Amino acid sequence: MVTTTQWNPDGWRDLPARQMPEYPDPSRLAAVEARLRTFPPLVFAGEARLLRRRLADVAAGKAFLLQGGDCAESFAEFHPDNIRDTFRVLLQMAVVLTFGSGCPVVKVGRLAGQFAKPRSDATESRDGVTLPSYRGDIVNGIEFTPEARIPDPDRLLQAYSQAAATLNLLRAFSQGGYADLHRVHGWNIGFVDDSPQAARYRELADRIAESLRFMEACGISSENTPQVRQTEFYTSHEALLLGYERAMTRVDSTTGGWYDTSAHMLWVGERTRQLDGAHVEFLRGIGNPLGLKAGPTMTPDELLALVDRLDPGNEPGRLTVITRMGADRIRDALPPLVERIRDEGRHVVWSCDPMHANITRAPSGYKTRDFSRILDEVRAFFDVHRALGTHAGGVHVEMTGRDVTECIGGDQAITDADLADRYHTHCDPRLNASQSLELAFRVATMLREERERSGTVV
Ligand code: PEP
Ligand code: CO
Repeated sequence: MVTTTQWNPDGWRDLPARQMPEYPDPSRLAAVEARLRTFPPLVFAGEARLLRRRLADVAAGKAFLLQGGDCAESFAEFHPDNIRDTFRVLLQMAVVLTFGSGCPVVKVGRLAGQFAKPRSDATESRDGVTLPSYRGDIVNGIEFTPEARIPDPDRLLQAYSQAAATLNLLRAFSQGGYADLHRVHGWNIGFVDDSPQAARYRELADRIAESLRFMEACGISSENTPQVRQTEFYTSHEALLLGYERAMTRVDSTTGGWYDTSAHMLWVGERTRQLDGAHVEFLRGIGNPLGLKAGPTMTPDELLALVDRLDPGNEPGRLTVITRMGADRIRDALPPLVERIRDEGRHVVWSCDPMHANITRAPSGYKTRDFSRILDEVRAFFDVHRALGTHAGGVHVEMTGRDVTECIGGDQAITDADLADRYHTHCDPRLNASQSLELAFRVATMLREERERSGTVV
């Protein structure tokens, strides 16, 4: 039985834990985890607290959360160009949102640690052969062979090292000049140059450049204003593989509290959010900002119980409820949840994941998502929050800076027949750079309308 008062970082070990791999050699796993516990933290507790303050602004309706990145990072696609391209599309989306709506944007990547995947089925069958499912590169290999699918503890070390190197590059990009607003034109990516999104983006970049020239004439420049030169960028992933998360969880010397130093923000997935399960128990004790996925079966009572468990102090910025209802169900499934939380006076951030309940199997056999349904879910999310007087706080998307063909639709009109061209994802289909920008332009309009209605901008 879970007690809600005492917490220790290993308390989850006695509770039912879904989606966790079974390692053939537990002593090897324990040895790897012990080693990880001696490795340097990837993020500092103070950074996680700063993100919490930024998210408190989102909860208060004064900012917007943009969270995005791969469904699953992979060892094979680990390359500085991929990290740069995802980062710069996120930067582009953020300027489109900020400039289009006048609202500050909190940028959080599904990056530098998004490796472990929950699966609907424990096994996968092909041509009469059945093997354990692939659970992300931190657990086992994607190749369809018995050897690759055996969970391997050494993968935790490789994941740590890739996360550290990725984060190092992201810190360099965000602090070292790459994210300077004067480079806003340079973030456009070659292959989208002749798309309608590129033209819209160039126009917006011209206006930003003009504003910067005006500000410079007034004495505000990259040299004297860090906000022009640098950006804040945070990392997040699903806290699924609890042994890894526990090994990265340390006491913060400033506050004496526990923080999971593997990322700034951690979320609990739709499949592991049981109130008395291991994942919720682990997360409730760490000081990082948390996310909670909420699918269409979530009831208001269930959600309130989870909010009580994960955010007993009702601290703005502590908890982001990431709804993933599906375009068909959101208009029915979301309002009762929002109403209940609003009526209880709870300060959560509401974010919309329009990806995970809009997956279809295309006739070609590929798992895909239709851009128009993604857009429908986001539009419904804004409509519901407008009707209930709450803030549509953010979006959570699976995207990449690469020119992939994984989601159908958008201005590029990707069809089922195109999916085979560049379908590279290790798990779910992602928006490509052009589709991501297109979504950002659409969301900017919705956000601007919300702010005009609430009198935040006139
Ligand atoms: C994910 O975000 O990749 C994921 C698995 O989401 P969900 O838990 O909402 O299905
Ligand atoms: Co996914």
